[in-house]
Amino acid sequence: MSGIAPVLLAWFEKNRRILPFREDPTPYHVWISEIMLQQTRMNAVLPYYARFMEAFPTPEALAAADPGRLRRVWEGLGYYSRAENLRRAAIRIVEEYGGSLPPSYEALRALPGIGEYTAGAVASISFGIPCPAVDGNVLRIFSRLYNDRSDCTQAAVKRRFTERVMEHQPPERPGDFNQALMELGALVCVPGEPHCAACPLAGLCMAFAAGSAASLPVRKEKKARRSECATVLIVRSPAGFLMQKRPEHGLLAGLWQPLTWMEALDAREAAVRLAALLPDAETSVAGALPPARHLFTHIEWKLNGYLAAASRAVPLPQGMEWAPPDALGGYAIPRAFKAYVPYLREPLRSGEGTPPPLR
Ligand code: ADE
Repeated sequence: MSGIAPVLLAWFEKNRRILPFREDPTPYHVWISEIMLQQTRMNAVLPYYARFMEAFPTPEALAAADPGRLRRVWEGLGYYSRAENLRRAAIRIVEEYGGSLPPSYEALRALPGIGEYTAGAVASISFGIPCPAVDGNVLRIFSRLYNDRSDCTQAAVKRRFTERVMEHQPPERPGDFNQALMELGALVCVPGEPHCAACPLAGLCMAFAAGSAASLPVRKEKKARRSECATVLIVRSPAGFLMQKRPEHGLLAGLWQPLTWMEALDAREAAVRLAALLPDAETSVAGALPPARHLFTHIEWKLNGYLAAASRAVPLPQGMEWAPPDALGGYAIPRAFKAYVPYLREPLRSGEGTPPPLR
């Protein structure tokens, strides 16, 4: 196949979106944006990127970030471990490289949270180093370009596709070439039905010629998500709402949630649990809240919830706090609890007793 670079680069120059990290592609800007874009769509990323750069404009600022503040700036983007890795990498960048990202693919790759793709993106876009940056967009484009039905989730297949990418990459413009592929994948060679009529590579594309582009890439059946049930209690006391810190490791580590059990409990069972948790208060559970669902990559949560009350703000077990409504902004609450967050906004009415017990 003749090279795709000339026609692809010409298309990119005309069609590239104006993006803040593209207009000022410092290594720090490209790194942060690529990490955000790994699990999140461009339109959702842009406001977070702006906020992040305001809060942490340099690797030094990120290295010195208060973890709680970082959590709040990241809150809503999901996959919080990405932010924690950013902070850990920033500390190494300050300590080992004097506050500038290292101009080497291997050195970038060795930093926490930086995989082959991100190292390739920063190295090629910001440092002009010829190297691949192969994400799902690029695999899709090349599976179609070569009409190749191999399973690109397999490491050996990805390696072969990456070699093909490098056969096309012009060594004097690696960053533009990699970004042009990402942009083509985002705007034209999209999943499902691609926009082949608008594609600069249609004349070279073997899947377009064969009429098979929409059926590529071939992927193995994804494993079904595991389902888990959760019961959320919005417990109100005169001092505020009961908030619970999640464990420091695992899913949504260290974030805050209203009192939650990872089981489907009916109101009576939830009332028994709450009474056992707060034996020195009168407690009650009433008012079932609408059920909700949240999808993680590998897990589906089915949530149900109840309003509850405690007569007194009794001392709480480790990892739980009474949070006054005006302090709730200081708690990073994961999106999984979005359906129940509005119930934490209701002001506490003074002198209010517990709701009537369930009969
Ligand atoms: N998706 C991930 N990174 C991107 C980038 N730099 N440009 C366009 N789309 C992207």
